[in-house]
Amino acid sequence: MEKKNIDWASLNFTYIPTDYRYVSTYRDGAWDDGALVTDPNVTINESAGVLQYAQTCFEGLKVYTTADGRIVAFRPDLNAQRMVDTAKRLLMPVFSTERFLDALTQMVRANLAYVPPYGSGATLYVRPYLFGSGPVIGVAPAPEYTFRMFCTPVGPYFKGGIKPLRLQVSAYDRAPPRGTGHIKAGLNYAMSLFAGNEAKKNGFSENLFLDAATSTFVEETGGANFIFITKDGTVVTPKSPSILPSITRRSLMYVASEILGMKIEERPVPLKEIPSFVEGGLCGTAAVISPIGSITTAEGEIFIPSGMEEMGPVTRLLYDTLTGIQMGTVAAPEGWIYPIA
Ligand code: PLP
Ligand code: COI
Repeated sequence: MEKKNIDWASLNFTYIPTDYRYVSTYRDGAWDDGALVTDPNVTINESAGVLQYAQTCFEGLKVYTTADGRIVAFRPDLNAQRMVDTAKRLLMPVFSTERFLDALTQMVRANLAYVPPYGSGATLYVRPYLFGSGPVIGVAPAPEYTFRMFCTPVGPYFKGGIKPLRLQVSAYDRAPPRGTGHIKAGLNYAMSLFAGNEAKKNGFSENLFLDAATSTFVEETGGANFIFITKDGTVVTPKSPSILPSITRRSLMYVASEILGMKIEERPVPLKEIPSFVEGGLCGTAAVISPIGSITTAEGEIFIPSGMEEMGPVTRLLYDTLTGIQMGTVAAPEGWIYPIA
C-alpha cells in the first residue's frame, strides 16, 4: 500500500481530510444501507435538529499500525456502545454496534494510505458522529438523522508531545446538565470552550473542571479524564456522574490492576488532595496519557512531585503498557484489538 506523502512525525492534532467518509441516513423509521462518499461537506436543512437544539453526539477512537504491520482499532465496540447509550439519552435512533464496526472497517480500508506507519508517532483518529438532520422548529426530536464517520491522521493532542502540562482551575464550569455525564452532546463541549480558552490565554495547557455543585472535587478537562498516583503507588481516578466514562481510563485501570498488579481506586477526588499525589496525568483517546506538571488554583500553583520535565515512573509504565497493547508489542486482553486490515 502506497502511503500518502505526509510528514507523519510533525503532525499535530489537526484535521486533514482523507479520501472517503461513511454516511448513513435514518428516515421513516429505518437506517439505509450506508455508503462511502468523497465529499467532506455536509448539507442539511436550516432547521435541522442539530443546528437548532444541538441534538448531536460524537465519539473518538484510534486506528494503529502494529509492529508487525497489521491495521487495528482499539476497543471500538466500547465507542459503539457508548454512542448507543448517548443516542438513547438524546432521543436519537440507535446505530447498532455491528453497523458501527462495519462502517469503521469499510472507511479505514478505503483510507489505508492515510494510516500512519508503525513507530511514526502518529495514529489515525476516527470521528463517528450522529445528529438530527431533519427539520424541527418546536423543541422536539428531529424527524430524520445522519450517522457519519471520518478519519484524520493525527499527532500528539498537546503541543510538545508528552512533556508535563500546566493546568489551571478556573471559576468557570461547563454547566453540565446533571446526570448526563455519559453524553458527548454539543452543549457540553461548547460550554467548555470558554474556560479552556481562558486557561490557554493565561499560558496553561488546559482548564481543570471542578464539580459544578460544590466546586471542590476534581472532574476532568475539556477533552480528557484524570488519573493520579498516590505516595503508596495506588492509581486513583475521580468518580463523578458528570464526566465522560473514558474508554482509555477504563482500560488503564484494568491494565494497572490486572496486568501490573497495582492498587486502584475510583472515588471522589477533592481538589485539596492534589498536593498529596506524586504523579498525575490526563487520559483519553486523543490525550493518551499526558503527564501533569502542575495545577494552579486560586491559592497558587501546586507542583506535582514527578516534575515538569519527564513523565513519572508509574505514569510511564502505564503509558508504555497501554501503547504497547495498542501497537501489538504487549499481549492484549481478549477482545481489545479489532483487526481491520
Ligand atoms: N473526557 C472528555 C470530556 C473527552 O472528550 C474524552 C475524549 O473522548 C475523554 C474524557 C476520554 O475518553 P476516551 O478515553 O473514551 O477517549
Ligand atoms: C477524544 O479523545 O477522542 C476526544 O473526544 C477528545 C476531543 C476533545 C479531541
